[in-house]
Amino acid sequence: MPAPSETKRYYITSPIYYVNDAPHIGHAYTTLACDVLARFMRLDGRRVKFLTGTDEHGQKVEKAAAAAGLAPKDFTDKVSQNFRDLAAAMNFSNDDFIRTTEPRHITASQAIWKAIAAHKSPKGRDNIYLGKYDGWYAVRDEAFYDEKELTTGPDGKKRAPSGAEVEWVEEPSYFFRLSDWQDWLLDYYETVKPDFIGPNTRRNEVISFVRGGLNDLSISRTTFKWGVPVPDAPGHVMYVWLDALTNYITAAGYPDENTEDFKTFWPADLHMVGKDIVRFHTVYWPAFLKAAGLEPPRRVFAHGWWTNEGQKISKSLGNVIEPNALIQKYGLDPVRYFLLREVPFGQDGDFSHRAMVGRLNGDLANDLGNLAQRVLSFVHKNGGAQVPPPGAFDAADDAMLAQARGILDAVRHLLTATSNAPEFHRALEAVWSVVTGANAYVDKQAPWTLRKTDPARMNTVLYTLAETLRCVALVLQPFMPQAMEKLLDQLAVPADARDFASLDAKAALTPGTSLPAPQGIFPRFVEEKA
Ligand code: MSP
Repeated sequence: MPAPSETKRYYITSPIYYVNDAPHIGHAYTTLACDVLARFMRLDGRRVKFLTGTDEHGQKVEKAAAAAGLAPKDFTDKVSQNFRDLAAAMNFSNDDFIRTTEPRHITASQAIWKAIAAHKSPKGRDNIYLGKYDGWYAVRDEAFYDEKELTTGPDGKKRAPSGAEVEWVEEPSYFFRLSDWQDWLLDYYETVKPDFIGPNTRRNEVISFVRGGLNDLSISRTTFKWGVPVPDAPGHVMYVWLDALTNYITAAGYPDENTEDFKTFWPADLHMVGKDIVRFHTVYWPAFLKAAGLEPPRRVFAHGWWTNEGQKISKSLGNVIEPNALIQKYGLDPVRYFLLREVPFGQDGDFSHRAMVGRLNGDLANDLGNLAQRVLSFVHKNGGAQVPPPGAFDAADDAMLAQARGILDAVRHLLTATSNAPEFHRALEAVWSVVTGANAYVDKQAPWTLRKTDPARMNTVLYTLAETLRCVALVLQPFMPQAMEKLLDQLAVPADARDFASLDAKAALTPGTSLPAPQGIFPRFVEEKA
């Protein structure tokens, strides 16, 4: 059994975003996944820290600033705001928003550098040494590549596996002795922390990459200036990924390891990332941390990528999906639901209008919205607008209530305990099996017929349904906070009885409580006529 203090905290991080691109669906997706987990854990009684922010250094951002005719700091001050606006538009509940240009982060980055330099590698050598980098670099990925990883396109240009163009770089550079960390890393993945990387497919890829051998990593650059200065090394700025990854500990108070925040929250429980940045988070980052005498995070999960109507999303194709446009068109909570329901989390997925409308009109408007509307309108008209007084429950009622009260355990398991967790799509499927069960129950029990034949039984059925809706709404809050707030308001559930402890039968609806007039929660999407 973990100690109580272990189970009571949860530190989740989203990647910090490069500010050169405008926010798009991919950015919204990674942080949405974090938001749902953060909200889930808070409702489940944990103390949560949820971090997101902007990654503002490096050559890519320096070039984008130059193209915009601005000094890098002025540029990042301006565009970083777009990501705060995204967080507000998506209703993210992050506790902190970090910018890598903040003084607290410069301090932390320089401190981790010094700590890495002060420790020896597992083979007893200096972790950092001065050398010269001769090799390929992709500014778009801010990553170094081996010749053998590259392909040459029909235009004769060499490209990284991501498709990014590479350029040849020769410059003095400090190196991190990553090659000495290979055995330690393999032992960490295989023995010490077998659940460090999810999903399993990514774990296998990382293990085979590390088995293939690791080169030392260039961790400073000298041909441009926009970065964190390397301590005591004029002309060198830190490799942007070393600086960027450090944000996760900056926000916990590093370099002061004695703060309440650091002691409570580090190591982080989960770094959520896209599949393109797995190597940085699962190879470089644990090695940097261990080299600095710090604990690695507990888990890194890599989700897949979205395409748009079957096509890769890119600025040049002009098919970037802007979160604000989606929210305006379909509503915020339907978008949040769709992104996590449509695609098995961890796999790639395709956004299409047809699929979005299918989920909105099917799962949300029909299955859940219609159920709530039917039950609540019926109670309003025929039950005196009060929570109905139940009589004795029969086996069908008991089964319905047991199913409703059991969802939390199923959802918690799928979000935290399976080897491919978090499995948002399966968690939502589990909730929908209760919704489907409730729709079958209402059809079978037919309260509209009971109104004439057996009003007492009608009340029991309506109570069972209202209580089922309460449980469903409580568990769905992390996914669709605004819509579920509306539903809980319509069930007159007090604000202090909306955490997961309230799923208990002891907090069930009180018969006789007045209910407000019901309103639809998920309007159907109606296509505009051409
Ligand atoms: N700045 C780095 C992360 C540093 S974390 C210490 C970075 N930024 S990014 O803005 O390029 O990407 C941020 C996240 O967005 C990544 O997790 C990436 O996988 C995700 N996505 C970008 N495009 C995407 C899609 N089309 N689909 C899904 N997510 C994708 O990388």
